[in-house]
Amino acid sequence: MFWLPASAICQNLEKRERAGNMEFSSVITGRESIRKYDGRKPSGEQMEHILEAGRWAPTAYNKQPQRVFVLESEEALAKMDQVHPCRYNAKVVLMVCGDSAAAASYEGNSTAVIDATIAATHMLLAAYNEGVDSVWAGIHQPEETRKVFQLPESMIPVCFIDLGFRSADTKENLTHSKRNPLSAMVTRL
Ligand SMILES: Cc1cc2nc3c(=O)[nH]c(=O)nc-3n(C[C@H](O)[C@H](O)[C@H](O)COP(=O)(O)O)c2cc1C
Repeated sequence: MFWLPASAICQNLEKRERAGNMEFSSVITGRESIRKYDGRKPSGEQMEHILEAGRWAPTAYNKQPQRVFVLESEEALAKMDQVHPCRYNAKVVLMVCGDSAAAASYEGNSTAVIDATIAATHMLLAAYNEGVDSVWAGIHQPEETRKVFQLPESMIPVCFIDLGFRSADTKENLTHSKRNPLSAMVTRL
């Protein structure tokens, strides 16, 4: 098992002090999943930057089938709670979907989920760059989710992204720095 250098971990601990224009490598290693929020919402400007990052994601044939629902009303958040246990007291959640009606397809296979996943990753990293904490909550029951949010048949819910600020008593994230060595990931041919 490979662990990140101590400097990278320290950087996580100091993340509250970071600004909106971080070193790219610090964003990559510093972003981590946060699972307890203090109830504050990101500002309008932070939300705009996060959503813009999703807009600029690459998509197959540039079809841009990613659809992002910003859940912030009591009603919308309650709907998430109905279908997913991982809101962790976040008051703003992105529900990221891929619209298969708008997506490209490779020999009949829609790229909607791939495109939405890339957009979600962009937004996760942008959130960290903005000083906003996040966690990706995968959607295991897309049909139930579609039903609860009354989404059209073509819309594939991919993930929720909780957004906010870590609670002062958030438990330390012990899994983040645990990474396999590159050799487990990379094969040179
Ligand atoms: C496809 C996917 C589904 C995930 N689902 C959940 C989830 O339902 N609940 C949760 O707390 N974290 C979820 N996560 C977050 C992972 O557990 C987390 O990214 C992983 O443990 C690595 O930790 P890190 O994000 O701090 O680096 C999910 C992540 C991905 C990519």
